[in-house]
Parts: sequence; C-alpha cells; structure tokens
Amino acid sequence: MQPSPYTPGEIARAVPGRAHQLAELDERLSVLVDLRRLVGRIRVDHAARGFGKTSLLREYQRRAVLRGADTVWVTAGEPQGLIGQIVDELRRTADTDGTALGDKVDSVRLSLGVPGFASATGTFRPAAREDGNAPAGARAFEDVIRAATTERPLVILVDEIQSADAAGLRTLVYAWQHLQAEGADVPAAVFAAGLPNAPETIAEIVTFSERLAYRPLGALDSVAEEIALVGPARLLGVQWTQEAVSRALSIAQGYPYSVQLIADSAWTAAGRPDPGAVIDVVAVETGHRSMQADLEALFRARWSTCSSSERRMLTAMAGLGDGPTSRSSIAAALGTGTNQLSTPRARLIDKGLIQPADRGMLEFTIPGFATFVRSECA
Ligand SMILES: Nc1ncnc2c1ncn2[C@@H]1O[C@H](COP(=O)(O)OP(=O)(O)OP(=O)(O)O)[C@@H](O)[C@H]1O
Ligand SMILES: [Mg+2]
Repeated sequence: MQPSPYTPGEIARAVPGRAHQLAELDERLSVLVDLRRLVGRIRVDHAARGFGKTSLLREYQRRAVLRGADTVWVTAGEPQGLIGQIVDELRRTADTDGTALGDKVDSVRLSLGVPGFASATGTFRPAAREDGNAPAGARAFEDVIRAATTERPLVILVDEIQSADAAGLRTLVYAWQHLQAEGADVPAAVFAAGLPNAPETIAEIVTFSERLAYRPLGALDSVAEEIALVGPARLLGVQWTQEAVSRALSIAQGYPYSVQLIADSAWTAAGRPDPGAVIDVVAVETGHRSMQADLEALFRARWSTCSSSERRMLTAMAGLGDGPTSRSSIAAALGTGTNQLSTPRARLIDKGLIQPADRGMLEFTIPGFATFVRSECA
C-alpha cells in the first residue's frame, strides 16, 4: 500500500502543460539574472479557481531560486496593503536589521502610515522624480527595490492580485514604470496571478496598462493531463491502463483540479497500489463516484455565494448548454432585456464562475459546473 502521489486541493508538485509559460519565465529570468536588468512588465497569469495559478507561481518561484534570485511571496488582500505586505516579507526574509535595506523598508512603512495614503484616487501620469502626482510611498518603495537588489536579483510573486488594494497596486505599477524609465539596471521582476477579472480590475485602477502583460491560463491539453495522471504513478512503480487514462481524461476535461481529484480517487479505489500494480478503468469508475461528492461540495460552496439574480442567470446559461452562450439568448431565456443582465454578469465574472468568450458570448469557467446547476435546478 502506497499513499497517493496526487494533490487535489494542494500545490501541484509538477506543472505539466505549462511549458509555454515556463519558457517565457526562463527568458525573463535570463534578463534578470544574466543581464541584471529590470523585467519591465509585470506578468499576470489569470484563470478561474482551480486552474493551477498558485501552482504555476510556486514553480516560477522555484526556478527563480534555482537561478540564484531572492524571492518574496505575497497573497494580496491583507489589511496592511500590497506594498506593506511586500516590504514586511522582505523584512522577514532578508537580514535587514541596521542595513541600508532595513532603513529603506522603515521609510516605506512610514510613508504608508501617512494618513490619506489609502485614499489616493484617480489615475496618474508618468512623471519626473519631483512630480507630486506619484502615489504616496512610490519613491520610497522604489528605493527599497534598489536596495534589495544590490547583491542578488529580486523576484516578487503576487498571488490573488485581483484582491490587492487600489493604492498598493498604483504604487507598485508606478514604481515599475519609473524604474523602467530610470533604473533599467535594477534586477527585479514581478510575477502575479489572479482571477479572470484581474485585467479589468487593474485597468480601473492604473493607467499604465502597457506595464502589465496579461496571460490567460487555459485548461490542460490531453498530453499534459496524461502526464499528470501517469507520471506520479510511474515514479511509484504503478501503471495506468490506456482505457483508464482515456476514461479519466473524459471525466477531468482538462480542469487541473479535476485531474488531481479523479487520479487521487482512482488511486484509493485501486487500494493504494503497491509497485507493480495497475490502475484500471474499474478503479476510475469507482473513483468517479466518490469524487462527485468533493466536486459537488466545491460547486455548492460557489452556488451558495450567489444572489437569486445570479442564480437565475446561471440557470439560464446552463439550460442553454455547456458551451458559450450569447447574452441575447440568456436574456431571452429569462424574458428580460440584456441590460438587466449586466449586474449579475459582472458579479459572476468577479467570482470567476463565468467569463467572456469570443464574440461577446459568455461561458462557464469550470468544467462540470453547468451540469451541477442543471441538476440543482431540476
Ligand atoms: N499543471 C498542472 N497539472 C496537473 N494538476 C495541476 C496543475 N496545476 C495545478 N494542478 C492541480 O490543480 C489544483 C488547483 O491548483 P492551484 O491551487 O494551483 O489552482 P489555483 O488556480 O491557484 O486555484 P484557486 O483559484 O482556488 O487559488 C490542485 O489540486 C493542483 O494540484
Ligand atoms: Mg490559488
């Protein structure tokens, strides 16, 4: 009996299917480490819940460390604000006591403490150093970045960036804009991850959209899924039959969380196999039944956060099928106009449950959610 090597609900130990993202990361790390230059654009990988954003960001961090960079990790949305979180982490991880960096960190904290910092509103322009339009703390934060990169390059990782405070985001992006203009020789980079609404949320706050590179993180293709299923088992001397793999692929539909769920529950159904054993389609079918409960719990938790108008909209969409649906057909199904849909639509996008698709259509983000909604309302 061997414990499951799969990771439902945990950081993935490997991220198959993300070769493209990792190649882009490696290229940025070269700029940072080999050329010792600023990575001028803040990269944001975005996707709905369970698509592997945090796992990917952790892989970025691992690779940055391997290349000899210092890293700082924050999950945005805490009370001290994004910049406060970043400098607190720097303080915690770097030996800052009595150093130049320590002084700079203290000075950012001071400027963050200035009343009114969080109430900075509107947008700002690229500006010269003396420009009073710089968000409070931006200069001091820039100084922290300079001081933190004198010995080693620095990589800042921001998870859940859509939850960052407006003032913090503004300061970060402004500082990056300014560093790009003046300090391209500062070896620092920011990699972020967030929900699909991150681009829209950030665009409402900062004007330098060109400072951010948004990258949607998609479903896994079938080769990546197969690697995720078969690879960890093989390391433990266990094989999946081809039929079992095919069945698991059709269940998971490329959704990373479901890939881990079906693999994990098939592993359990196969009796947590010893080396030399096989996971067959019977184990996958048994596992499928037991994973339904987990998946339903996830769906039910999401559903319970929806208002009645959001639920009506989800129900109408689910009734139109699993694929993209047009706003007008959703409105028609509800017997209302498309204008009435704009509030629930925006809320559901913010929650990561639906997303805009091609040609003004809307679609569900998580495979299986439409089926859940249909059964819930049957
Ligand atoms: N490339 C991958 N291949 C296989 N499984 C993966 C991959 N990436 C992530 N996973 C698995 O998918 C699930 C979700 O991963 P993760 O928590 O990283 O997603 P997330 O997008 O950050 O989710 P959330 O929005 O809820 O924070 C986990 O069970 C993880 O082990
Ligand atoms: Mg996450």
